[in-house]
Amino acid sequence: MNQRDAGIGAAAHSTDELAQGRVRLQSQDRWIPEGMGETCRRAAAEGVVLLKNDDALLPVGGSATIAVFGRVQRDYFTVGYGSGGDVRPPYLWNLLDALRASDAVEVDAELAARYEAWCDEHPVEADPEWGTWPRSHPEMPLTADDVAAVARRTPLALVVVGRSAGEAREQALEPGSYHLTDDERDLLHHVSTTFEHTIVVVDTGNVIDLAWTREYDLDAVLLAWQGGMESGRAVVDVLTGVVPAGGKLTATIADAYEHYPSAGHFGGEDFNEYVEDVYVGYRYFETFAPEHVLYPFGYGLGYTTFDVRSAGVTHEGGIVVVPVDVVNTGAREGTEVAQVYVRAPHGLLGRPARHLAAFAKTRVLAPGESQRLELRFDLDDVAAYDDAGVTGHRSAYVLEAGRYEVLLGTDVRSATVCGGVDVPALRVVRRLSEVAAVQPQHTFERLVARTGDDGGTVAGYDEVPASTVSRRDRVLADLPVPLERTGDRGVTLDDVAGGHANLDTFLAQLDDDELEALSRGDYVMDSALGAPGNAGALGGTVASLRGKGVRALTTTDGPAGIRLATYTSLLPSGTALASTWNPALVERLNTLLAQEMAVKGSHVLLAPGMNIQRDPLCGRNFEYFSEDPLLTGIMGAATVRGIQHDGLAACPKHFAANNQETNREHNDSRVSERALREIYLRGFEICVTTAAPRTIMTSYNKINGTWGHYHHDLVTTVLRGEWGFDGAVMTDWWLREAVDPDFPQLRNDAYRVRAQVDVNMPGAWGREVQTGDGSLLESLGTPDGITLGELQRTARNVLRLVLSVRAQERG
Ligand code: BGC
Repeated sequence: MNQRDAGIGAAAHSTDELAQGRVRLQSQDRWIPEGMGETCRRAAAEGVVLLKNDDALLPVGGSATIAVFGRVQRDYFTVGYGSGGDVRPPYLWNLLDALRASDAVEVDAELAARYEAWCDEHPVEADPEWGTWPRSHPEMPLTADDVAAVARRTPLALVVVGRSAGEAREQALEPGSYHLTDDERDLLHHVSTTFEHTIVVVDTGNVIDLAWTREYDLDAVLLAWQGGMESGRAVVDVLTGVVPAGGKLTATIADAYEHYPSAGHFGGEDFNEYVEDVYVGYRYFETFAPEHVLYPFGYGLGYTTFDVRSAGVTHEGGIVVVPVDVVNTGAREGTEVAQVYVRAPHGLLGRPARHLAAFAKTRVLAPGESQRLELRFDLDDVAAYDDAGVTGHRSAYVLEAGRYEVLLGTDVRSATVCGGVDVPALRVVRRLSEVAAVQPQHTFERLVARTGDDGGTVAGYDEVPASTVSRRDRVLADLPVPLERTGDRGVTLDDVAGGHANLDTFLAQLDDDELEALSRGDYVMDSALGAPGNAGALGGTVASLRGKGVRALTTTDGPAGIRLATYTSLLPSGTALASTWNPALVERLNTLLAQEMAVKGSHVLLAPGMNIQRDPLCGRNFEYFSEDPLLTGIMGAATVRGIQHDGLAACPKHFAANNQETNREHNDSRVSERALREIYLRGFEICVTTAAPRTIMTSYNKINGTWGHYHHDLVTTVLRGEWGFDGAVMTDWWLREAVDPDFPQLRNDAYRVRAQVDVNMPGAWGREVQTGDGSLLESLGTPDGITLGELQRTARNVLRLVLSVRAQERG
């Protein structure tokens, strides 16, 4: 079996007691938690972004007949590819069926039948090889005459454009992927020049080129994202106004790919220099290139109009409060998202023209109805990190002197100043230590914003500061004191759970082999210790641990559902969920998902995906939330709270700077410490400090020369030391072999455990074997070798996780 398949569809192959349970699960029916379908549908609908709606064409109703073009109406892309989307949904709603099921509209039956027949004759490949999935499907050819014939039956057309991307491969800068194909262009041309009204639905996981939405005569454009099993019904809800359009973009849509700041520095096989530094997405466009924005960050139309007004900005005790009154001034119900941005003074560090500081969404407001929202943020959280020492405070977050303007609006571009806070003199907000800085031999020039002679902003380039810290010294200064070994005293983990013994008493009993077994999974995906199709098991991976009460925990992918052999709900993609700007809804959805996990046998969901959408081509952007770290952090925290509310575990991933799929297991993300902290780590920081995930997953890539799964600076110094994370850290699936450059006695698992990357997942050293490589224990007791204290520290992290995860399955 291909390991990447995680056993989906594979028969249970063990006859012991565990396997009996596995068989039961595999043959389970299509049960999903009550309310799951409705909540998925609502979330997918709230995530639909209305980009254009000339003359208020939408919502449609009154039994209007729609001529639906595009084969994706049937072969709808409901999710992206790879581990993050590979679930077996109990049902799927495509757009055509959902339109047919709606009472509000009719579908031109003749055209629909023609598409169905063509799709049957030209089926999409049922089960493509891993990494070779289609980015789009060939379109049914239609002549101008064909289209004209349909237009004689109804004035209203809808064209669906579909795209997908996924793991292990980027979206491509070519027709059929980022760009339209000639067939799609012909279709859009014929339809938009023939029909009185043309609506376009873009079904995609990634941002694609949308410059064409301005080229053709289109009345309405919906960016629907990939909405999971309820995709079709969610789009129809918005088309017909059952759910008022209200989604907002979580990434900037530029007028051309070349204008993204990462273009030219993305997709490198060996490394990528993050030359744009903190100027990612709208931070770049609003500061340096506003003219290249097609649809700004935070943008999205509704079916009504709102007056959004601040009632004055106050600042007390470091907290900035922006009360906002939102009034529905239009004729239909709707929701609005109030967005507060900050424009910080350039000072010596240079700052983006604006960055998101807070947001809040209204409930559905009837015409004339209003709502007071209170947006707040901590001024300290808008500080900048000085990684070069230009302010005299190297390795510190600082608020440079000047006025911090507060802007309010409903997207980044339209936000206007509504107040501000004066910082009279530079203030150091947090002193930290240098981490993960660029290696001296790999420095490069990074973009900085400066005040020009005329007081405006000009772009400059400075060399990124190089690393100055000795990791060896840092590790040696912090080696944990070992517990004295007691041998087996009969204390079980249940005794600890029951409050009859403390964890260290339990831990002191464990021998080397048990400690080693806690630091890895049980080697394989589709572990016999868990439900079929799981991603692997950890914790009680060997009988002697299980005999001491250490349960095996089952991990499953995420984020779009529970990746098991049985049927499980397919959730809207990460981007769709973030586009709701509704963390309460995202939390509620994940609470339902947790119920489903408990029934179907998952303890740890490998979700949320929290990497920053640095570049629109990244194959896994659909799993991620946004180009903005605050929105990413808040959505990640909402997901974690939902998954964990009843005792299960979430696993935010991939920590960190996993921003591309090309050569993802080897390429080096070369990025300044400032950009790391302000952009790429910030979302994780918000999630960890506000939602306390029980686990976290490192990334495949290197971060300034060190693989994520060996990164002591990121995992021990930042994640645990600065943010107080006390759960277990696991690797992404399968590691790269390496010798610790600072302690050459350590290789592979020992190098990893020294960093406190606790669990090697799924555990084996190589995809084709089912064993470890002996690397963890071989240096134990040698000078500079792995220490008992370190083994016990990692075991403690894992045991704490096992203790914190509730055991019972329901259902
Ligand atoms: C992916 C992870 C996933 C893991 C287990 C890896 O290839 O990068 O996101 O959780 O596989 O399937």
